[in-house]
Amino acid sequence: MFSVDPFDRRRLLEFLGGGMAAVAFGKAAWSATSLPQIGPDRRDQLVLASGFRHDVLVKWRDPINTRGEAFGACNDFIAVLPRPGLQDELIMWVNHESPDVMLLHDGQHLIQRTREQVLQEQEQVGGSLLRLKRQADGRWTVVPNDPLNRRISGLTPIPFASERRIAGEAEAIGTMGNCAGGQTPWGTFLTCEENTDEYYGVALYSNDGLRRVEALPPRESYGWQKYFGRPPEHYGWVVEVEPLTGAAKKLTALGRFAHEGATVVTARDGRQVVYMGDDETDQCIYKFVSDRAGSLEKGILYVADVTRGRWLPLDRRLNSSLRTAFHDQTELLIRTRDAAKMVGGTPMDRPEAIAIDPKRGDVYVSLTNNKPKGNYHGSLFKIMEKGGDYLAEEFRSETFLMGGTQNGFSCPDNIKFDPAGHLWMTCDVSGSAIGKAPYEAFGNNALFVIPMSGPQAGTPLRIASAPNDAEFTGPCFSPDGQTLFLSVQHPGEMSQAPRTYTSSWPDGGKPRSAVVAIRGAFPS
Ligand code: FEO
Ligand code: CA
Ligand code: CA
Repeated sequence: MFSVDPFDRRRLLEFLGGGMAAVAFGKAAWSATSLPQIGPDRRDQLVLASGFRHDVLVKWRDPINTRGEAFGACNDFIAVLPRPGLQDELIMWVNHESPDVMLLHDGQHLIQRTREQVLQEQEQVGGSLLRLKRQADGRWTVVPNDPLNRRISGLTPIPFASERRIAGEAEAIGTMGNCAGGQTPWGTFLTCEENTDEYYGVALYSNDGLRRVEALPPRESYGWQKYFGRPPEHYGWVVEVEPLTGAAKKLTALGRFAHEGATVVTARDGRQVVYMGDDETDQCIYKFVSDRAGSLEKGILYVADVTRGRWLPLDRRLNSSLRTAFHDQTELLIRTRDAAKMVGGTPMDRPEAIAIDPKRGDVYVSLTNNKPKGNYHGSLFKIMEKGGDYLAEEFRSETFLMGGTQNGFSCPDNIKFDPAGHLWMTCDVSGSAIGKAPYEAFGNNALFVIPMSGPQAGTPLRIASAPNDAEFTGPCFSPDGQTLFLSVQHPGEMSQAPRTYTSSWPDGGKPRSAVVAIRGAFPS
């Protein structure tokens, strides 16, 4: 079990509770009539609206400690934790979603890899823990070689928090596909395994319970299974990470699918509720209700029936057809999608991030697109729990904003409320589609804010434009709301390296993913 310093825990609760309110209702630096914004942009730059500036905090391959570990590839989700009694310090978690194959192998999009090349890729994924310090001029910097700086990767042994072994093992080797994540009230980070079938293949089950493993086609796969025959069932979970030690565990009770993120909220009775999206075409929205406060190891997983406004439990104790279909609850959790379809979970347009309005309590979900159904621009979707109760089994829902030229954004991905209650959104038009039909009008991927009050309430305003082929991911505010940490992921993704690179961000050389710290005219 984790040993979370109780003082750390108290500080975090203060930050999430009273401290947050003080920030939210403090001075009103943002004038609702003069919100800054920029237009669509195709330059290979990080372009910011007036009143904002940025610094590069850390980038791919920067050394982080004296043990030889370096910052990983394709940084995504970011979370920060205040430190007890140290207001100019933070512990930061950053996801590394996938290896940057094109840059890692000197320009080769490999179909066949050597074992050594696979090991290099396994080092690039997972996450980084970093200690940050605020300088006298207000800039946050990574403390070089700090003992707290460490990596978790595709090679780290991680035990399962599970009722039984998974595919015969008590622990998995590594985590990968770490897309978005979450944070618990007791001061741990959650990192979510999304597109894990690209690494060790997919396990398929027939109705009579037979199992077979299939690899994806070579061009869609990293092909790690050629050298490491690890069970696909070891991946596709939510992983909880203790910030001071890096101890991690895979939380099987939250189900197994292409986890985008895991947004935690505390219900009226003190238990935690976790909202989660399964980012694949026609997959579902889930929520998990913990059995007891302070732990996500046991509880009930539900899938959303959006048509009837019901949360449907995926629990063998509560459903006889699930009891018949699955030998035990662990098998059901391994095959969460099969169980969700069996009870009537609603297929959605690729559910990505989920954010909870700190003022009204509503649950916002980004639905990025559904190209097979002709939905190219996606939408923001809103769930309102019955009675405003996160434990409710009934809800109402509606579309909050449609993507498309009318609202100026397409393919919403990460969403996050700032301390003042405005909604920030990053968009993910793939590098191969940027600037082409039907995405010509949107420019490079961008960061938007949607004011939730004032004369421009509900209007997406473009605040930042990304370098070529990049997407912004992982928006995360410092506790005082005055710095936005943001990932710039895979600039130059469409390069024909080593001959030509489509981006030279951030430093004029080969493109590199990096975390930036944006400061300036945030609401406060
Ligand atoms: Fe990794 Fe769903 O974006
Ligand atoms: Ca995405
Ligand atoms: Ca994402």
